[in-house]
Amino acid sequence: MTALKNDRFLRALLKQPVDVTPVWMMRQAGRYLPEYRATRAKAGDFVSLMKNPELACEVTLQPLDRYPQIDAAILFSDILTIPDAMGQGLYFETGEGPRFRKIIRSLADIEALPIPDPEQDLGYVMDAVRTIRRELNGRVPLIGFSGSPWTLATYMVEGGSSKDFRQSKAMLYSDPQAMHALLGKLADSVTAYLNGQIRAGAQAVQIFDSWGGSLSAAAYQEFSLAYMQKIVNGLIREHEGRRVPVILFTKGGGLWLESMAETGAEALGLDWTCDIGQARARVGDKVALQGNMDPSVLYATPAAIRTEVARILKAYGAGSGHVFNLGHGITPQVDPAHAAAFFEAVHELSAPYHA
Ligand code: CP3
Repeated sequence: MTALKNDRFLRALLKQPVDVTPVWMMRQAGRYLPEYRATRAKAGDFVSLMKNPELACEVTLQPLDRYPQIDAAILFSDILTIPDAMGQGLYFETGEGPRFRKIIRSLADIEALPIPDPEQDLGYVMDAVRTIRRELNGRVPLIGFSGSPWTLATYMVEGGSSKDFRQSKAMLYSDPQAMHALLGKLADSVTAYLNGQIRAGAQAVQIFDSWGGSLSAAAYQEFSLAYMQKIVNGLIREHEGRRVPVILFTKGGGLWLESMAETGAEALGLDWTCDIGQARARVGDKVALQGNMDPSVLYATPAAIRTEVARILKAYGAGSGHVFNLGHGITPQVDPAHAAAFFEAVHELSAPYHA
């Protein structure tokens, strides 16, 4: 494999010295980019795009070609590939988000779910990872990802997106054994899936726990963090002679950073509700931090974006261990020129913190 030309993202995750703070953006390949919309139109729809390794590679590279500052690529895919491979039948209703043809509601449904084999059942994802690594040719590292068991379970039980998680929380409280059976199967599936991505060439992995923050403190420990811990314990941690860092991102998890830092993950993703300087003081040397600008700042002027980037860099302070990102994904309405202002500001303003 080609040597990495830019490894500051991997170095920052391991708290090794860097010249400037590395940056990438959640959903950096997405609908705010006209070139993404053109490739999606060529594919027909989002699911067809995601299942086509050549086109998935094309959209993964689009933000890197437009914004030379980006320090990491993220596999273009979705967290819902696993429930799809378990037989639920993923599709997207225009303007309504993800849906499943089959919904999971009982212990019998859960017991019937297979644990997908990454190469057999999710081969299109593994092929996309291999294709992207080849095309990146060492430019920047490639991030693989998965949803957390709890986050995947909410989609599987609700049948799609939800505001109140009525069905999944009802199962959690009225039939905890069934929920544990589902989460256990998902933890095994996610571990195999991420290890498949690592073998195929992913150089860091992120676990998206988008809905962990909807849980009570006690339920978070038992139904989300415990299963992410199982995954961390089962992951390949060295590949191609390098550490493969793990990033845990619980949106709304700012109150629980200390326990997340105990899992053995290298880094924690932060949403914008916590102060990154206070977060750093709380976790100490245990983990690196990734985040945490409110994506809505990108609706404001380039000058306002720069001011907010400067504020977050200052809050984190001097030294390595910070990967700049948004606190959640960029939205489709953002002007691509505003994303440019964000990427440029991170590199331009961060050098003094690494002197
Ligand atoms: O970050 C990246 O650039 C990589 C690609 C990526 C996508 N989804 C592509 C996508 C990643 C990392 C994801 C993760 C994902 N998918 C999460 C976790 C992160 C988060 O946002 O909290 C979740 C919850 C999903 C499930 C999902 N996929 C939803 C709820 C939706 C619809 C909502 C929306 O944004 O429209 C998707 C669709 C989706 N996944 C799109 C993209 C680019 C938009 C679909 C389109 O192009 O029409």
